[in-house]
Amino acid sequence: MKNLAWINGEVCDLHEANVPVEDRGFLFGDGIYEVIKIYNGKPFYLEPHLKRLQRSASAINIEIPYSNEELNEHIAGLINQSECDHGYIYMQVTRGCAPRGHLFPGGIRPTVLIYVRAFESVPSRELTEPADCITLPDERWMNCYIKSVNLLPNVLAFQKAHEAGASEAILYRPDGTVTEGTRTNIFALIDGVVRTHPETRYILPGITRGIVLDILKQISVPVSEEAFKVSELQEASEVWTASTGLEIVPVKTIDGKPLKEISPGPVCKRLAGEFWQVVDAECYGGKQ
Ligand code: PDD
Repeated sequence: MKNLAWINGEVCDLHEANVPVEDRGFLFGDGIYEVIKIYNGKPFYLEPHLKRLQRSASAINIEIPYSNEELNEHIAGLINQSECDHGYIYMQVTRGCAPRGHLFPGGIRPTVLIYVRAFESVPSRELTEPADCITLPDERWMNCYIKSVNLLPNVLAFQKAHEAGASEAILYRPDGTVTEGTRTNIFALIDGVVRTHPETRYILPGITRGIVLDILKQISVPVSEEAFKVSELQEASEVWTASTGLEIVPVKTIDGKPLKEISPGPVCKRLAGEFWQVVDAECYGGKQ
């Protein structure tokens, strides 16, 4: 297994990959990205990730110089060459390289980076130890649906959570509405209905979030894409996070206060089981 990078068509070892310092991704954070899991040597839900990548790019007027079919091929080639069974793909597209200036430079080609990083071991399917979370004001910009590489507010909030002994910060807007986590979408079981923030510009429309909503509908758990307040979150009977990186993670305390019910609760447990069946169907030919 080797970690490989593909930059505008050139493949090299990940630790030797580099981009010029005048790349606008480096100077301005002028770019967008995706993270895609690899299970059993196969990218999980690649199509929706590529669709979101294209959507993010067009939202900031970057035209990716490859079609999704071409990106698909390059990704498959890179996974093959790297012989990665379990790991992730990181993709980043920036506006390209040019002397520093705020205006979009003319005549430059976007920088397209794809890399594969393998995990040392097969990821566990057991639900992780329920997480402690804190709540923090959402200090990000108004276009969180764009998966921009400008992650400074997320990084600072995540660091604060870590320093407080928590494993995620749940962000809220000035009126107390919960948006999402620093790198996860948030679900809460409130009065028998699973709630999550609707797909607006205040959240990233998570691919895992979409899978979770589909599963809940299939298993007939009442669900509503209706935002909720921090005060409601603290009264929820179950809370969990959903993301590509960590899949489904149950939450047990918020701001130091335990949830009403023992975590993980029955809905979260059932959901996690169903989630791995989706992974099996997509990446293991239906069985594991
Ligand atoms: N983060 N919300 C935010 C702010 C995120 O950064 C992410 C993903 C999610 C979950 O989206 P998805 O299910 O599509 O991964 C929600 C990635 C994994 C990261 O930055 O590492």
